[in-house]
Amino acid sequence: MIGAFEHLARPLLATLDPEDAHDLTIAMLKFAPLPRAGKDDQRLGVRAFGLNFPNPIGMAAGFDKNAEVPDALLRLGFGFVEVGTITPQPQPGNPRPRVFRLAADAAVINRLGFNSRGADRVMRRLARRADKGGIVGINIGANKNSSDRVADYVRLIERFAPVASYVAINVSSPNTPGLRDLQRASALGELLARVIEARERAARDAGPMPVLLKIAPDVSLDELDDIVGVARALRIDGMIVGNTTVTRPPGLRETEGAKEAGGLSGRPLFSLSTRLLAESYVRVENAFPLIGVGGIDSGAAALAKIRAGATLLELYSALVFRGLGLVAEIKAALIAAIARERRESLRDLVGADAVAVTAEPWPQ
Ligand SMILES: Cc1cc2nc3c(=O)[nH]c(=O)nc-3n(C[C@H](O)[C@H](O)[C@H](O)COP(=O)(O)O)c2cc1C
Repeated sequence: MIGAFEHLARPLLATLDPEDAHDLTIAMLKFAPLPRAGKDDQRLGVRAFGLNFPNPIGMAAGFDKNAEVPDALLRLGFGFVEVGTITPQPQPGNPRPRVFRLAADAAVINRLGFNSRGADRVMRRLARRADKGGIVGINIGANKNSSDRVADYVRLIERFAPVASYVAINVSSPNTPGLRDLQRASALGELLARVIEARERAARDAGPMPVLLKIAPDVSLDELDDIVGVARALRIDGMIVGNTTVTRPPGLRETEGAKEAGGLSGRPLFSLSTRLLAESYVRVENAFPLIGVGGIDSGAAALAKIRAGATLLELYSALVFRGLGLVAEIKAALIAAIARERRESLRDLVGADAVAVTAEPWPQ
């Protein structure tokens, strides 16, 4: 059903303004009868952050910003869904147009700027589905005009602890001025210390909740040293590597579109984000697992991310160009890889190429 729908709908969606196409897709996921993906092969199962993921493929943040369709996405075969970014107060984000397809590059540029319905609205939705199961992480951010950004994160942790499988601290969106400064060691130390404190307070009622940090692929290796140092010292549960890039890799074919301000995602982000993932993996030394994100658009790309150090994966942009069938395609490719390499599970492949990737010339 979803396959047939997509087959008919994708050419139409491609002609629409990207944000209108996205809204239509969310509406379709809300209202269309969806098939349930088959049970996952147990070799795809992953245990991380104390959670059991049926498969490692997650929907990245930004697709379901307001938690409208997490159950539809789980039903279609995602192993987990990261909703958000959610801000404490509702805010409209930047003026439209603010999402651009670079079709010839299989890339997207967005400068949405945390358009969010706000915590109250999203909390009501998540509370209604709380007993349904499935892994739903919540990606949180600060309001643009907040006078105390750290307090925004703290408030959201306390608020969402009862309904979140995990919380992702987003300090890496390029579209909220100054947000990425929170990645600097001293600011990050204070932020994470207060976040962890809030998590411990909330745990008394809500139980344990993993806290993950989502970083930009644009940090320097010196900055990455500091980030990983702080993350390890404060014992966070994992890192997501990473968000969109403000760089424009050479060789983009859509030269006009590439001039739009905002974060670039999709295929041209693959090399840079995979390099940062491997660089993170060698620094983290198995202190916590990593989620690899950026440019995954095939089984081979998914496998490369795992071999570079990802325990779990997330994707978004490739779904725009390849459709939801990509999830099943990646699962089949991962199972084939496990069999080919005579391993028992994906865990045996995590980080196998990390050192080799860090020795390559810096990706252009
Ligand atoms: C339209 C759009 C909106 C996004 N919004 C968010 C967001 O709200 N929070 C966030 O952490 N990442 C957001 N992202 C980044 C994705 O979660 C992901 O990190 C990035 O797109 C790289 O993955 P991809 O190449 O598979 O798309 C967004 C990406 C896109 C394309």
